[in-house]
Amino acid sequence: MPEILHVGIDLGTSRSSISASNGERFVVDSYVGWPVDMVARKVLKRGVLIGHEAVSNRTMLDLHRPLERGLLKEGSEKDVEAVRELLKHLLGLVGVSNGGSVSASNVRAVVGVPAAALRTNKQYLRNSMKGIVDSLLIVSEPFAVAYGLDALLHTLIIDIGAGTTDFCVMRGRYPTEEDQRTLTVAGDSIDAQLLKLIEERYPEANVTVYMVREWKEKFSFVGKASQKVIVTAPVKGVPTQLDITNEMKAACESLLPPVNEMMLDLLARVEPEFQERVRNNIILSGGGGLTRGLPQALEAALNQVGGGKVRYMEDPVFIGSDGGLALAIDAPDGDWEKLSG
Ligand SMILES: Nc1ncnc2c1ncn2[C@@H]1O[C@H](COP(=O)(O)OP(=O)(O)OP(=O)(O)O)[C@@H](O)[C@H]1O
Ligand SMILES: [Mg+2]
Repeated sequence: MPEILHVGIDLGTSRSSISASNGERFVVDSYVGWPVDMVARKVLKRGVLIGHEAVSNRTMLDLHRPLERGLLKEGSEKDVEAVRELLKHLLGLVGVSNGGSVSASNVRAVVGVPAAALRTNKQYLRNSMKGIVDSLLIVSEPFAVAYGLDALLHTLIIDIGAGTTDFCVMRGRYPTEEDQRTLTVAGDSIDAQLLKLIEERYPEANVTVYMVREWKEKFSFVGKASQKVIVTAPVKGVPTQLDITNEMKAACESLLPPVNEMMLDLLARVEPEFQERVRNNIILSGGGGLTRGLPQALEAALNQVGGGKVRYMEDPVFIGSDGGLALAIDAPDGDWEKLSG
């Protein structure tokens, strides 16, 4: 009998990662693009580009980001195809392909998606995986993170991604809908807000959301600024220095009210005798969790309810997919959905 390959996939709005039981791990930007015309095809010499390559060649591409605000976009055919291309690409990277070393019929995949997508897009995701893997288990992103960290009992995971901020309270069993929440306030909404604030303050400056995101990833903070945030952007074509300290602070702090509210609400629902343990076991993950000062700001909010501890997980890139892989290896036959045969 051919050996089964287990994989964990973290299907993210901005980047997606895969960890496989053959030891391979990859991460790609969640972008898929097709050449717009004959000229672009001639330059690119390929039918489809994925990941960073797609972003850097975007002027020549019909560029798609298949997940937005935590949901798979089901509307357009191109977005449906984009999800499949992205999944096939990830599996191809770890050696799964038609005629490759591992065939799709031997793959068991755990796919982590935002908690909201779990409710609304499950069927659609199942269809996207048909013919790509044999068996599938769809779980929420924060649960995959919890599983990977072995933080399965009396913990709260807060995963701040690009499209969504996902919450999951772990009670030592598969989490239910009750245990999970999704907010659409996350990296993308901060980018949009930061862009708007900069445009208001510097109407003459030429700024794109890609520039803004890069600045945010370098200088994000909440609370007290440790230094001024100075960036360079063209004003009427002339590279000019702009002070965006206040705009950065305001955009990043837009996370705080909704995240604090959701965190306190979930904590209040925990059985009273366990609340203190959960408060002291809050795990922050995802790219947005890197925002400077964020753990301290959340801990300040916890002080209203007796105090608590927020830890940030280093190396967030593969936490979700590694957790998915661990789950894939542990899951008994009965927990899997067969997609073929
Ligand atoms: N240092 C940083 N400070 C603030 N935000 C950051 C930083 N580094 C990355 N980000 C943001 O984190 C987000 C990406 O995080 P992550 O890779 O966890 O998201 P994702 O898993 O693709 O999205 P989602 O979980 O919503 O589907 C982006 O919005 C990115 O701009
Ligand atoms: Mg994520």
